[in-house]
Amino acid sequence: MVHLPAADDVRIPDDPTGSAGGPDQDLALLKDVAAQMLGERDHMLGFPVNLDFDYRPLADFLHVHGNNVGTPDAESEYHLHTKTFERAVVSFFARLAGDPDAFGYVTTGGTEGNLFGCYLGRERFPDAVLYASRTTHYSLPKIARLLRMDYEAVEVGADGAMDLGALRGRHRAHPGRPAVVVATIGTTTGGAEDDLAGIRGALADAGTDEVHLHSDAAFGGLIAALAPEPRPWAFESGADSLAVSGHKMLGAPFPCGIVLARTDQVETIRRPGIAVGSDDDTITGSRDAFTPLLLWYELRRLGRTGLKRRVGHCLATAQYAERRLREEGLHPERAPGSNTVLFDAPPAAVCARWNLLTVGDRAHLIAMPHVTVEHIDRLCADLRS
Ligand SMILES: Cc1ncc(COP(=O)(O)O)c(C=O)c1O
Repeated sequence: MVHLPAADDVRIPDDPTGSAGGPDQDLALLKDVAAQMLGERDHMLGFPVNLDFDYRPLADFLHVHGNNVGTPDAESEYHLHTKTFERAVVSFFARLAGDPDAFGYVTTGGTEGNLFGCYLGRERFPDAVLYASRTTHYSLPKIARLLRMDYEAVEVGADGAMDLGALRGRHRAHPGRPAVVVATIGTTTGGAEDDLAGIRGALADAGTDEVHLHSDAAFGGLIAALAPEPRPWAFESGADSLAVSGHKMLGAPFPCGIVLARTDQVETIRRPGIAVGSDDDTITGSRDAFTPLLLWYELRRLGRTGLKRRVGHCLATAQYAERRLREEGLHPERAPGSNTVLFDAPPAAVCARWNLLTVGDRAHLIAMPHVTVEHIDRLCADLRS
């Protein structure tokens, strides 16, 4: 648990001259908060974030303003940017996703990636209905409101994945209208994966081939792609666009992500030359030039093989956790190939100590790269005492 200072201790004075403390005291206070947050690496078992990284060698970039304003694919009139690195990161993910020529950029996180995908779909098919499953991320109903799209939450099966019969039935109630569908690859609540090809088939059965299919692979994309037996998640399985998180399997000190889309489709939204001399084909105007450097640095270090090893570590740890929690009689369950284990929620104090998210009477353990079998053993020891 991180104990932040009281509001009075962090209030910003109108005039700092002569106020108590000064920069040294402020730095000491910040160092204390940082130490507490770093200490949580040892107890963070319940959230899909990776805490295993160190970007301090890139500290030089903390005293210059970089800005990747406009399209990632061309320079703007602002010359302090890192678009070459951004394109290298996008190219890595585009190859992984099965379309090396895909358009893409580094986002503020999964929500922006989903917004971009739905916006692109809505611009391609202005009268489309937006569909996502009932277990979709909470950003989707909000995105529907932002884009003023009719929204249908589709029922899920016992595995938490979108029920294709229900999708067919719901779309039949909108004859003649196109569809934007968000398929989740790795739901936040249990790791379920929607069937991309099945979604296209269900909509064809319901009478439409005007479909934009967005894969929300924020959580599960890298796992599906790099598991010992890879599973469908991207372009080759029928997606038109997809979002992957940067701070989950890869790791970053703040939320970030990557969005990809079919290059020809992005023409629909591109406004030439209006973003400080660059084309406007992203959601935000000014864009972060620092995050592409972090992602590039980590990807150069790990490569595809290192990421694959990392996914293997997470799945092995999840399997170990499932076994140990079964031995403790806590009825664990885990979707096939997922790193999320649901189990009977322990007392609130244990959940708080291990940052376990609870939904109803079940707790989530998510085996992210920093989580090891030692963490699981210590959690089980705690459960027993
Ligand atoms: C499946 C899924 N989609 C979208 C998001 C949203 O990502 P962000 O919090 O980076 O906006 C998350 C975050 O946990 C997620 O798990």
